[in-house]
Amino acid sequence: MSSLVLRGHGSALVIDLSNSIPTVVHWGADLGPDAPDSTLSTFPVPHSNNDLPQRQELVPQSSSGWRGRPALEGHRPGGAAFSPRLRTTGSRKVGESGAELTLEDAAAGLRLVVELSLTGEGMLRLRSVLTNIGESDYSVDALRSVLPVGTGAAEILDLTGRWIREQHPQRQRIRQGTWLREYRHGRTGHDSSLFTAVGTPGFTNRTGRVWATHFGYSGNRETYVEKTATGPALLGSGELFAPGELVLGAGKSYTTPWTYAAFSSTGLDGITATFHAWMRGRDGHPTSPRPVVLNTWEAVYFDHRLDQLVELAERAKQIGVERFVLDDGWFMHRRNDLAGLGDWEVDPAVWPNGLAPLIDAVTSRGMQFGLWVEPEMVNEDSDVIRAHPDWISGPGDGVIPAEWRHQQVLDLVNPDAWKYIYDRIDALLRDNNISYLKWDQNRDLTEMGHDGAPSASAQTLAAYRLFDELRLAHPTVEIESCSSGGARVDLGILERTDRVWASDCNDALERQTIQRWTQAILPPELVGTHVGPTTAHTTGRTHTLAFRAITAMFGHFGMEWDVREIEGETLDELKQAVAIYKQYRPLIHSGVAVHGDIADPAYLLTGSVAQDASAALFAFVCVATSFDELPGRIALPGLDPEATYRIERIFPTLTNPFIDHGNVEWLDGASATGLFLSEVGLAMPILSPETGILVALTRA
Ligand code: GLA
Repeated sequence: MSSLVLRGHGSALVIDLSNSIPTVVHWGADLGPDAPDSTLSTFPVPHSNNDLPQRQELVPQSSSGWRGRPALEGHRPGGAAFSPRLRTTGSRKVGESGAELTLEDAAAGLRLVVELSLTGEGMLRLRSVLTNIGESDYSVDALRSVLPVGTGAAEILDLTGRWIREQHPQRQRIRQGTWLREYRHGRTGHDSSLFTAVGTPGFTNRTGRVWATHFGYSGNRETYVEKTATGPALLGSGELFAPGELVLGAGKSYTTPWTYAAFSSTGLDGITATFHAWMRGRDGHPTSPRPVVLNTWEAVYFDHRLDQLVELAERAKQIGVERFVLDDGWFMHRRNDLAGLGDWEVDPAVWPNGLAPLIDAVTSRGMQFGLWVEPEMVNEDSDVIRAHPDWISGPGDGVIPAEWRHQQVLDLVNPDAWKYIYDRIDALLRDNNISYLKWDQNRDLTEMGHDGAPSASAQTLAAYRLFDELRLAHPTVEIESCSSGGARVDLGILERTDRVWASDCNDALERQTIQRWTQAILPPELVGTHVGPTTAHTTGRTHTLAFRAITAMFGHFGMEWDVREIEGETLDELKQAVAIYKQYRPLIHSGVAVHGDIADPAYLLTGSVAQDASAALFAFVCVATSFDELPGRIALPGLDPEATYRIERIFPTLTNPFIDHGNVEWLDGASATGLFLSEVGLAMPILSPETGILVALTRA
């Protein structure tokens, strides 16, 4: 092969292989099946530079002239083989959409195989396998996957956050230098950006050219945008290793996690469309209707009493709940968060007859039963650690890391500890009728070590193996990835779980942002979204039920609230919201996600349009006071321009003092073409801050 052209869904990756250095000629819009002339793949030689033609290398190396971050950093004893000369020795197509490039440096004793594919949904996937073909040990300091972006990229958008405020956007200009995000949490991290996007100036939800990557891994890692004086911006990602953490013996290999990448010429929604479509096409992507959840955490916390929980289950049933999840507090010594993690036996002091009476109360009412666990963690105050103090992961010599939420990390690299925890969770699932695990992980994994050597990477893989083996043994049990809210949200964990808990914050205003950006990559059916208590426990803000329900609607809907306390209109309104979710979940969980470009930051528009554009559901919400008296006309994107749609405001329908219906005629059922709705838009009602409406459209 003298070139490689991968194409899918309007995007393409073109690599020139005519030289022994694989050169990225283009990543961006599809240019057709033919590769451009290979003379177009190099740039002139600048003054004061290597006397080598400048290229955008797929595997940047100092030995071919690159002076930025190299793809591979490592060495043999004494620093030997520090500057590899990896050159192409083979290339082959793999299936319809993939390819494999082999690079070798025989003198350094290294072989690197880069695996690439570009799927029909437009998803570009990339990873490398490094093999030590020499005789001595080779220490790997870094192995990065790198993609140069196309013409015109000028701005970076990524996300950041903290507990109860995950996935908030931050934007900046691309400048010379490296915008580096390092995540040393041992888990994905609350500040973790679900994607790194660069784009043309001012790119929006619906406009501009955008290149975005996601690194599908739940451990220590780095992602970056790098701009040197000689080339365009690069998007890079790789695992972060502690000194000496990854040493390849002779003949041994290391495989990087996958980097996922997408290009869009229609703004961020184009990136979202590719990720959602690709994720929905995965084997094992949930296909059954996502059940309405009631989670007990913010309803009762650690106060577990059978009679109260049965009352809660009865009320949940009346409301339309389909899955009842018992949260933290059911196992030995777990009356608060100071003790018990690791002792995964039902505590007879609280549950004298085990969990069966509650499970029966739930399942006999036609609901699934779910249970909270945190398998990777232990409290020092637990029977398991009293018996095995050496099962705490740490830097060695019995040194214990600082506690975090009073807990430590179970050393899963220790086969005995791994087997212990596997057996405990396996037994729980065998002995009880459990359909769902809320699998939590509530601390950063600082100072991860096994036998005195760093083990963060091995711990992450051991945790993955725990999920994988338990799933194999219990294939019908669904698993949610929770990590103090949204600290483990990534495509690595989603290979082995069925949804994520995006945040411990159930404040609908905060959730508008958290969910919008979590769902920039993840389809809504994978993101847990709960109606919380009237006054949010994490922020103290009070919101109408309507606003809380509208916010929870665009996700995997549930509630986390003591719903025994509500009566009358409130109860009716919650039942109505549940019924609307059940009616619209087939659309929300299969449709194309769209986001309005609204000049006024006081308003947000989120929608889901059926794949055939026959129907759509939009949430229009007000998140702040506006300078303007009226929201004016708001464009509804993503519709079929030629179709005529009937418009209906479906929620809230109860009298709501915060919504002025008086001046909006279309609320009574107007019709308009998709072209009108996307170009002119709908005159929206005047909303008070922190309220919203749901509007349904049906093709006439
Ligand atoms: C974490 C989770 C919460 C809840 C508690 C229980 O904080 O994110 O949802 O399960 O643990 O201790």
